[in-house]
Formats: sequence, structure tokens, C-alpha cells
Amino acid sequence: MKFFVDSADVAEIRDLVDTGLVDGVTTNPSLVAKAGRDFFAVLREICALVAGPVSAEVTATAADAMIAEGRKLAAVAPNVTVKVPLTWDGLKACRALSQAGTAVNVTLCFSPAQAILAAKAGATFVSPFVGRLDDIGHDGMALIRDIVTIYRNYPGTIATEVLVASVRHPMHVVDAAKIGAQVCTIPPAVLRQLAKHVLTDKGLDAFLADWKKTGQSIVAG
Ligand code: G3P
Repeated sequence: MKFFVDSADVAEIRDLVDTGLVDGVTTNPSLVAKAGRDFFAVLREICALVAGPVSAEVTATAADAMIAEGRKLAAVAPNVTVKVPLTWDGLKACRALSQAGTAVNVTLCFSPAQAILAAKAGATFVSPFVGRLDDIGHDGMALIRDIVTIYRNYPGTIATEVLVASVRHPMHVVDAAKIGAQVCTIPPAVLRQLAKHVLTDKGLDAFLADWKKTGQSIVAG
């Protein structure tokens, strides 16, 4: 499973990229606003930090304007993936951009029907938002299961990857992996939580305490 960092905070992204376990980045207008910096400067810096796909979202709502914005964003760096919302205009823009060779991430997906359209539009990624469905009492992970099942029925024609978004906690990542989603985009705090376990901390403390009693040192040995 590919791990993308869901953030526009360059310092956070740099820190996580240094682990060697980050495959890409996703941003959106809210994350860019939260970063409080010039969008193009942030995008250039992120694209230089990670070799994998970096999603940058258009803010226009009409297809022609989305296409124009998408072309401008794609020109920033070779690893830019243009993000468009799952609307008819977004799908038209996705079709045009993908046919011109631009990678497109169709976002704000909340139903299997929408995901089918994203695939038909040639999306590189579709971003179903599991957390926001959970937030209103729906089963976000059921949507991932449905999309993966549907896409798997068309191995020769659907190349769109399922990019699980709106991730709230580590179990979203685990469940997405069990289902077989190709990508999870994960907020920095959740990504850091993935490695944490109380028994790991407890076990390491015990190992080091016992080792200290031996009075030995590997580095001096
Ligand atoms: O990539 C989409 C993600 O940032 C949305 O997450 O927490 O606003 O639902 P959230």
C-alpha cells in the first residue's frame, strides 16, 4: 500500500519523508489555507521533497477554467497530480487533462456511482472520503470495499487507483489495506500513530534496562 501525507505543511512533510516511508502527498484548498503561505511556493517545495505524486487541487468550478488551472498546476513540477472535485465539470476536466497525459486525482467521492464515473473519466486516482461518511453515521469503509470490488471487475479497462482519504485513525489505514486499496493519504498525526504501541515501548524499555545491567557496549565492543 502506498502512503501519502495529507498535508500542506512543508516542515511536517519533510520530517515524514525523512522516514523513507512516504510515497506522495495530497493537498486541498483547506490544507493550503491552513499552511498560510503562497500556494505555488508550497507546491514547488513539496514537489522537491518527494519523488511521488503531489496532489494540487483546482479552485475553479467550470470545466474550461478547471482545465486551465490544471495545466498551470501541472506545469509546476513533473510529479504534480491535478485534483478536481467529483462534479460533471470536474469529470469533463479530468477527461481532458488525462487524455493530454496529466495525472488527475478526482476528489470528494462519496458513492460507488461517483467512483465509476471517475474511472470512466480516466482518473489516475479517486479519493473517497471515509472519515466524512463516518462523521454522519455512514460506513465509510463500506464505500472503499464497494469501489475496490467494482474496479476489480474491469482489470483491463480500469486503471484508476483507490486513494483512501479523510483518514481519521490507524484502523482506517489497516481496514483499507485489508480491502486492497492502493493508496491511503494520511494526516501527519495519524501517520505517526501507526508505529506506536504501548507494548513496544514497554518491551524496549525492559530490553535496554537488562542490557544496561550487563555493563557492555556494542559500539565499544
Ligand atoms: O485529502 C482529503 C482530506 O484532507 C479530507 O480530510 O479530515 O477534512 O475530511 P478531512
